[in-house]
Amino acid sequence: MEEKKHIYPIFDRMLDRRDKEELLGQHSVMIWFTGLSGSGKSTIAIALERELHKRGLLCRILDGDNIRSGINNNLGFTETDRVENIRRIAEVSKLFLDSGIITIAAFISPNNDIREMAAEIIGKDDFLEIFVSTPLAECEKRDVKGLYAKARRGEIQNFTGISAPFETPCNPALSLDTSELSLEESVNRLLELVLPRVCLD
Ligand code: PPS
Repeated sequence: MEEKKHIYPIFDRMLDRRDKEELLGQHSVMIWFTGLSGSGKSTIAIALERELHKRGLLCRILDGDNIRSGINNNLGFTETDRVENIRRIAEVSKLFLDSGIITIAAFISPNNDIREMAAEIIGKDDFLEIFVSTPLAECEKRDVKGLYAKARRGEIQNFTGISAPFETPCNPALSLDTSELSLEESVNRLLELVLPRVCLD
């Protein structure tokens, strides 16, 4: 096949992830939080982003608030819809990673197959799985959104932990139980794991 020639040699190749990482002065990585509703995924994600931001590192958080209300607002909580939810999130995350941005996702992502699919789309070397392992009893006690009570009354179907399964991750990079750890402790553990990966040599 004949090689494609550009009029201006400078356009010979598209800027890639490495160019963007160099521009931003960071390596991008995927920080993927999994855990029950109310386990603390988004709270930790927000606190982690602040700490990384303070250190001059650019992040993007993806969570239910910005994904399920927008790009995925046609999806519910059946098994099929959850797979499609996570597939799209992983594809969107890949775009952020390719732009050199540290990407933080906070989704229940309830089983190993779903998390495996996300890791494959994103690339396993870039994928840090963080299990927010707060027990169901504690999540239900908090019941921040009142959804556990509704699920117990049968007013919500397929509610994770009540009427839909949650599979414990096999080999997470880190587990954080927010019934035992303070927010500061959780974030410090994350920083220990993440900083060596994202800082340029
Ligand atoms: S999943 O399983 O990864 O596709 O779920 P996710 O996109 O993270 O959405 C979870 C949030 O949606 C609310 N919600 C439910 N969760 C679980 N099961 C059912 N049936 C359900 N219906 C609504 C719930 O508030 C979750 O919020 P978080 O932020 O996890 O507490």
